[in-house]
Formats: sequence, structure tokens, C-alpha cells
Amino acid sequence: MELHEAVRRRRAVRRFDPSPVAPRVLDRLVDLAARHPSAGGSAGRALLVLHRPDDVGRFWSAASDDVASPDRWLAGMMTAPVVVLCLADPGAYAERYARPDKVRARADLGSSPEDPATWPVPWWDVDTGMAGLLLWLAAVDAGLAGCLVGVPGHRWDTVREAFGVPAEHRVVAAVALGRAAPDQPPARRRRPVGDVVHDGTFGRPWTALGAEDA
Ligand SMILES: Cc1cc2nc3c(=O)[nH]c(=O)nc-3n(C[C@H](O)[C@H](O)[C@H](O)COP(=O)(O)O)c2cc1C
Repeated sequence: MELHEAVRRRRAVRRFDPSPVAPRVLDRLVDLAARHPSAGGSAGRALLVLHRPDDVGRFWSAASDDVASPDRWLAGMMTAPVVVLCLADPGAYAERYARPDKVRARADLGSSPEDPATWPVPWWDVDTGMAGLLLWLAAVDAGLAGCLVGVPGHRWDTVREAFGVPAEHRVVAAVALGRAAPDQPPARRRRPVGDVVHDGTFGRPWTALGAEDA
């Protein structure tokens, strides 16, 4: 599948066929996801792949308040045979940007770059989100489906404890993956490009440049 086709086909799928993802396919997905760009090539991001049914079940129990009586959303998400936790360690970014080759970049990070809480943009969350998107697109490319979801903040400790994740890692997102169940709800209507993309000045909607040539 070409990249543009995977991008166009990607949509949030929240109910899955629970059959397992073939090991070779999973290998490919994680290999592609691990190629995401990262600020400074920092080491502070991690993907934790849960593909054994017991681990996936433990994840939903740890991440949800109502796993015993799941609502429709949770019941659907729990059918995913694979869940990948996207984790980020801000301290590793601060360490990376304290190295000598980052003197100039460090100056852009405010007056106390050693304190990640003061960074203008949390690069660790940006990088980790990119990894999640690559994983999601790689799944679509492989004929699968997915959905990136948040993990409630008050559940992070429980999730970290369940899987031995060090306390300094943020649980940025979880990506549920698998084959889409039949009878999906209709795909969300896309906003026109001009609602999202501005041309030259903020507020001037992008219109297809090809149209100007005509
Ligand atoms: C950062 C982020 C967090 C999201 N969190 C959730 C979530 O907690 N629950 C959920 O059902 N979908 C979640 N989604 C999926 C979005 O709802 C979905 O991508 C959006 O509605 C656009 O639809 P589409 O992905 O089909 O284009 C999240 C997506 C992103 C990028």
C-alpha cells in the first residue's frame, strides 16, 4: 500500500475482531513505529507492546475504573488483541539537551532547560505521539486497524505498576490494534482542508493551488 493510501484509509476503529495479530506482522509494525523522529535523538521514549491476552486484559483492568461493567466504548476497545503503550521520560530529554552538542538548541528551551516542566514544547510527548501515529499507519498498511487513546492520569500509577514501567515515564497514549470488526460506524466526516490549513497568513484558508493555475 502506498503511504497516501494508508493515510487516507486510517480512521479510529474502536471495535475489533479479537483474533491475534500474526507475530511477523507485529514485528513489522513495531519496527516501523520505532523509526519515528525524536528531538535530539533522545532516548526517553518507549513502546511497550502487550500482545498476550492476559497482558491486554491486565492493561484494561489497570487503565479503567469500570472494567467489570464496561460501557460500549470500553467493551469495544477491550476486543483489540494488541495494545501498545506509548511512554515518555522527560528527564532523558533534559539529559540529552545538557550534552555539549546541544548548547545552541538548549538556549531555545528557556532559562532552566534542566527542568523539563519549563520547556516551551514537551518534545517527549510530541515524539511519542509520532511513534503512535507511525504504529497506527503501519497497522493500516498491513490491513489492520487501530485507535490511539489516552490513559486517564489517575490510572498511570496502576498501569506503571502492572507492567514494571519506571515512575518517571509518562503514559502518553495507548494504541489498540487488530482487525476491524465488521459493521463499523460510518467514518467521521473530514473537515475541509481549508478549516485546518492556512495559507500565508493565519485565517486565510488553504485552497488547492492547482485551482489558481486554472
Ligand atoms: C491524542 C489523541 C487522543 C485520543 N484519545 C482518544 C480516546 O481517549 N478515546 C477515543 O475513542 N479516541 C481517541 N482518539 C481518537 C480520536 O477521537 C480520533 O482520531 C478523531 O475523532 C478523528 O477521527 P479519525 O481518527 O477517524 O480521523 C484520540 C486521538 C488522538 C490523536
